[in-house]
Amino acid sequence: MPKLAITGKGGVGKTTLAALLAHLYAAEGQTVLAIDADPDANLGSALGFTPEALARMHPIADMKDLIAERTGTQPGQYGGIFTLNPRVDDIPDRFAAVRGGVRLLVLGTVQRGGAGCFCPENTLLKNLMLHLMVGRREVVILDMEAGLEHLGRATAAAVDAFVVVVEPGRRSLQTAQAVAQLARDIGVGRIMVVGNKVRGPEDEAFIARSLPGVEVLGYLPFSQQAIEADLAGQAIYEAAPELVARAQEIKERLGGT
Ligand SMILES: Nc1ncnc2c1ncn2[C@@H]1O[C@H](COP(=O)(O)OP(=O)(O)OP(=O)(O)O)[C@@H](O)[C@H]1O
Ligand SMILES: [Mg+2]
Repeated sequence: MPKLAITGKGGVGKTTLAALLAHLYAAEGQTVLAIDADPDANLGSALGFTPEALARMHPIADMKDLIAERTGTQPGQYGGIFTLNPRVDDIPDRFAAVRGGVRLLVLGTVQRGGAGCFCPENTLLKNLMLHLMVGRREVVILDMEAGLEHLGRATAAAVDAFVVVVEPGRRSLQTAQAVAQLARDIGVGRIMVVGNKVRGPEDEAFIARSLPGVEVLGYLPFSQQAIEADLAGQAIYEAAPELVARAQEIKERLGGT
């Protein structure tokens, strides 16, 4: 039951790939937990949750009472003593919403300070992230920002595969190189690339050539269906069959990772 982290530069298609993989694992009969760890959360929409359902979901980072209860603090209060090992194992089951066989949990914004903010929210979220990677008997797919800093070393090391999404273009490839280096530095096992929005063999060759030594899992074509699914707020899995077939190949190459 793989634990995957999908990363890459802004707008490359992280959320699109995360949603496709989540539905593909669910279609195979696996229990799937999709985690929106991007402060600008929109994985729910790509999974086909309605705006009403999404409006009812609150990011864990904003649950002041829960954070206070678990860390032994007063809601919204900083400083002072709090527990460094708050209970988190019940959070996915309590707060995830379900649609189409996929459970979605929205994490919200992890506060960042110079050396990382040492506060109750971050302690709870970091513990939760670690639990998601080491303590769940289900497929976990994390849709996250480009950086790995906010994951924490132990969590990053527990991820089975970092899937870096790139599009044909220097900027996203530079980000991919930086992510790959960072992942190697913290001892992450598999780092793989998915090329998205490719228009043909030249784009595929450009991506492969630009990332020597990195395993390319596959490519997703530039797809009008993807754009329309996004505009209409439809599940990408339901609205873009041309991407589903290619994402299935990517999933097979991931294997049990
Ligand atoms: N294969 C594709 N073909 C065409 N458009 C695509 C494709 N994949 C994604 N897109 C479009 O590109 C935009 C960004 O995709 P997506 O939200 O998945 O990227 P992201 O990396 O998660 O972005 P962000 O950094 O904002 O979270 C969306 O409008 C999406 O519909
Ligand atoms: Mg996204």
